[in-house]
Amino acid sequence: QVPRPAFRLLSCPGTVAADVRSEEHLVAKPGSEDKAPKKRFSEVQKERREQAQRTVLIHCPSKISEKKFLKYLSQHGPINNHFFYESFGLYAVVEFCQKDSINSLKNETHTPCLDTEAVIPFKSRFFNLKLKHQSNRISEPLCTQSSSQSPPSSKKLFELLNYAESMDDQLNTLLKAFQLTEENIKLRYLTCSLIEDIAAAYFPSCVVWPFGSSVNSFGKLGCDLDMFLDLDEIEKCDVHKNVGNFLMEFQVKNVPSGRIATQKILSVIGECLDHFGPGCVGVQKILNARCPLVRFSHQASGFQCDLTTNNRIALKSSELLYIYGSLDSRVRALVFSLRFWARAHSLTSSIPGAWITNFSLTVMVIFFLQRRSPPILPTLDSLKSLADAEDRCVIEGSNCTFIQDLNKIKPSGNTETLELLLKEFFEYFGNFSFNKNSINIRQGKEQNKPDSSPLHIQNPFEPSLNISKNVSQSQLQKLVDLARESAWILQQEDRHQPSPSSKRPWGLTTLLIPTAGSKFLPKKKRKKPVSERVKSLLESIKDNSPESSTNTDGK
Ligand code: CTP
Ligand code: MG
Repeated sequence: QVPRPAFRLLSCPGTVAADVRSEEHLVAKPGSEDKAPKKRFSEVQKERREQAQRTVLIHCPSKISEKKFLKYLSQHGPINNHFFYESFGLYAVVEFCQKDSINSLKNETHTPCLDTEAVIPFKSRFFNLKLKHQSNRISEPLCTQSSSQSPPSSKKLFELLNYAESMDDQLNTLLKAFQLTEENIKLRYLTCSLIEDIAAAYFPSCVVWPFGSSVNSFGKLGCDLDMFLDLDEIEKCDVHKNVGNFLMEFQVKNVPSGRIATQKILSVIGECLDHFGPGCVGVQKILNARCPLVRFSHQASGFQCDLTTNNRIALKSSELLYIYGSLDSRVRALVFSLRFWARAHSLTSSIPGAWITNFSLTVMVIFFLQRRSPPILPTLDSLKSLADAEDRCVIEGSNCTFIQDLNKIKPSGNTETLELLLKEFFEYFGNFSFNKNSINIRQGKEQNKPDSSPLHIQNPFEPSLNISKNVSQSQLQKLVDLARESAWILQQEDRHQPSPSSKRPWGLTTLLIPTAGSKFLPKKKRKKPVSERVKSLLESIKDNSPESSTNTDGK
């Protein structure tokens, strides 16, 4: 029997998020990729979920002896790994080797007794650690290493970019600095797993999968956490046995449509999160959206969460993006820089509206990379032609089949640099016939636009849908103007060899500073884009609705 240190675990109420950072994850490790066989998306999802199920989240006293803390928890079983992070308080994520350890820990945990408020005794895997004796703090080595869950500041980013050796180095540096860290990914899966426990009160074998940028390889520190409540897994668990003449079915409630079923399920889960979910705050039920969802903040992790169900195609499109992002190391670097560029110029926003989304922008980059000669990325049709019987996937009548084992996809022979690709991207979309053509990654070529939406990007799995239907003509025009301006800036850059002592922004940095870019334009040229920029800014303030449009032709 291990002697018990003076700790006491309580079921946990949440706190608010903040940031303290370590810069370990900023260290670029060139050449460390592309060697080992890459895991399938479904393997990654299953492994991470299983890890998350063996993991707990603990709110700790601000000063704690890491050694004692681990010794205390090890009474319940061996610990596989752990890390601390700051989020207006110190938190620990602790992964046990065995799931049983969690029950053991829960058995010893108390529900808090409050004098002035009543508690709802929902027992989750989110705990609160209290010190029994204050004296425990003294003369112990304190936990100092805490992992950052936030991106570096703009100042830090510009420093890093200015010290880079080439533009390619700049793009890779930006990727390394902003991509999700191992710890952040763990925290995302853990958060899904905690929400799954709540949903499982109603649907015991449900699964909550992360999707979108948390898992599609394009996630940036601080991005939202998209969650998919998967109820189909329940059916997979049902063993269909036909014994004799009988077939047993569950007696269930019927509703007129799948959409209504989705709304009812999300409505109840939303209530549950709001009333019982430790650390879940600001719960909003957005049930009349095209894809009904429950939005909430998970305070301890700091994630803004969007929970959907009946949204399996989005999970499949996350898998497709994961494959594209993993096939060639240039893809993620280019997408990250362009996402940054778009955000820096307010082409994208965290608020939904008439502007382009990161998802649409990513599909535009994929399309551009399919158009290179030789192509850097294969078309979706060619990924489909490589598929085996086990890859076959039809979701609600849509054929979503493509090869899942990315090791079977032939690497591209294209050796273009990131610098060239960035320039060419701006040239390409600065001159694209948006008024006539639709972007289609299934075939990897432009197609005639089927309707009059300013920007048409075909949904890869639901060809009748346009993923950028929300984008107004003025927002598209802004994208085109900025692409042209950026192409022009890169052409004009006097390609002076950057020196580490140089304070002058260069290369990628000039493209990320909204005002600095224009100073490299000659006066005549400068005037137009700036006035247009002001005009489109006024327009976007004036009419923030998806319907807003002007007469610009988007060419
Ligand atoms: N999605 C889709 N069609 C859309 C919008 C979104 O299929 N019109 C799916 C995509 O799989 C997308 C996911 O929903 O990746 C999540 O959407 P969103 O959060 O808007 O995009 P992310 O890719 O997660 O990017 P961000 O970092 O901006 O959240
Ligand atoms: Mg998202």
